[in-house]
Formats: sequence, C-alpha cells, structure tokens
Amino acid sequence: MKVLVVGATGKTGRHVTEQLSTDGTGKTVRALVRDRAKADFADTVEVVVGDVLKPETLQAAMTGCDAIICATGAAPSFDFTGPYQVDFVGTKNLVDVAKAEGIQRFVIVSSLCVSKFFHPLNLFWLVLFWKQQAEQYIVKSGLTYTIVRPGGLRSEDAGEAIVMSAADTLFDGGIARQKVAQVCIAALGEPTAENKIVEIVTRPEASEQSFENLFAGVAG
Ligand SMILES: NC(=O)c1ccc[n+]([C@@H]2O[C@H](COP(=O)([O-])OP(=O)(O)OC[C@H]3O[C@@H](n4cnc5c(N)ncnc54)[C@H](OP(=O)(O)O)[C@@H]3O)[C@@H](O)[C@H]2O)c1
Repeated sequence: MKVLVVGATGKTGRHVTEQLSTDGTGKTVRALVRDRAKADFADTVEVVVGDVLKPETLQAAMTGCDAIICATGAAPSFDFTGPYQVDFVGTKNLVDVAKAEGIQRFVIVSSLCVSKFFHPLNLFWLVLFWKQQAEQYIVKSGLTYTIVRPGGLRSEDAGEAIVMSAADTLFDGGIARQKVAQVCIAALGEPTAENKIVEIVTRPEASEQSFENLFAGVAG
C-alpha cells in the first residue's frame, strides 16, 4: 500500500510519516509538503511539493497512491479565512482529487467537539465549524473514509491507553500526537474502521485494547 501523507511537516504529520516508514508493514510513503526545505525526512521518504489550496498540485501527488492520511490544519493567524481555506476548502480539494484518482482509503485528523458551534475554539475563525463542514463533505463523497477526532493534542506520550468512542460522545481530554498517528495508520488496515467517525483521547484508567477491538466498538 502506498500512502500519501498530507501535512507531513506538521507535528502530527511527522509522526504519521515516521511511523509509516518504519513500522515494518511494507507500506510506502509519499509526503506532501508545501516547503521542501522543511522536509528533513527527504532522505528516507519520497517527498512531493504541493498545497491543498492548489488542486492542480494534488493529482500528480496522488498518482500511484492507494490511501491518504491528512493531518493538515490552519496555523493560528490574523487571517480570518485560514480555517475556512485550509480545513474546509483544502480538504474538499483533496477529496475531489482523491475520488478522481481512485484513492481507496481516506483518513483525516479532525477534532473533538466539531459539532459544538458555541465552543471556545470556534473563536479561532470558526475552526471547528469548518472542520465539521469538511467532515460532512467527506461522508457524502463516496470515499471509504475514517475521520479521527482527537482531543487536545500533546507532544509527550504518557503511555496511557486509548479510549475510542462514537461521534459526539467525548467532550474533553487529550491524547499524544504519536497515538493519533497510530490510530490513523491502524485505520488503513482495519475493515472495522471503514466509514466511521471516531473520537479518541487517552485516560490513565483505560485498559489497552487492540485497534481491531477499538474500531469495532464504535458503531458505523
Ligand atoms: N492542537 C490541538 O490540541 C488539536 C486538537 C484536536 C485536533 N487538532 C487538529 O489536528 C490536526 C493536526 O494538528 P498539528 O498540531 O499536528 O498541526 P500542525 O503542526 O499545525 O501541522 C499542520 C500541517 O498542515 C500543513 N498545511 C497547512 N496549510 C496547508 C496547505 N494549504 N496545503 C498543504 N499543507 C498545509 C502545514 O504545513 P507547513 O508545515 O508547510 O506549515 C503542516 O504540515 C490539525 O487539523 C488540528 O487542527 C488539533
């Protein structure tokens, strides 16, 4: 399986790229980056320059790929169009090209609480609202998708076990980006992950479960 990682220079995308290229499952990786100079993994991973806001760059990036893991996100900025552009229009562009290119699996990092319009995070230019609009576009697209909604992203993995739950059932908690990457990669190979929205956090009291069981425990 060849996987295009979109947002590969991001904090979560880097974990996805690194884990995919070292997990020994034989998957090959192509990393889509906006700035080749930031792709310090270019010695070990194929890199392609592209931008989700430039659909003309996406077709060549996807050629020969079977799956996409998307971990893009608008950076905090005074540009009020950022989340609309990156989290909605950019994802829509990816979906449209993915359909045209026959991509078999589409996995994306979204966020907990996208359905809560009056959430404080929407003060950042309606970021949750635009992520929700993107999710709805994916669900209707006909692609085989997994939408992964993590809680607050952490840089350190405290070793806690993952709790996975259905859409709009978890409203607080956090998770290490390493674990988010693991969930995204596991989704590629788990039939029980297909066409599901899953919410994930980690909790100290949770017990370890296989990804098969975690995904199977979420109704489609
Ligand atoms: N922070 C949290 O607590 C939290 C909680 C839940 C969900 N999330 C979501 O989780 C996702 C990953 O978060 P993160 O912290 O890992 O993100 P991040 O480090 O900010 O990375 C975002 C990535 O998106 C890329 N990107 C932005 N605009 C792009 C464009 N037009 N075309 C192509 N790539 C583009 C960036 O590229 P460059 O490197 O070139 O800038 C970067 O690689 C985001 O969607 C975020 O909103 C975050």
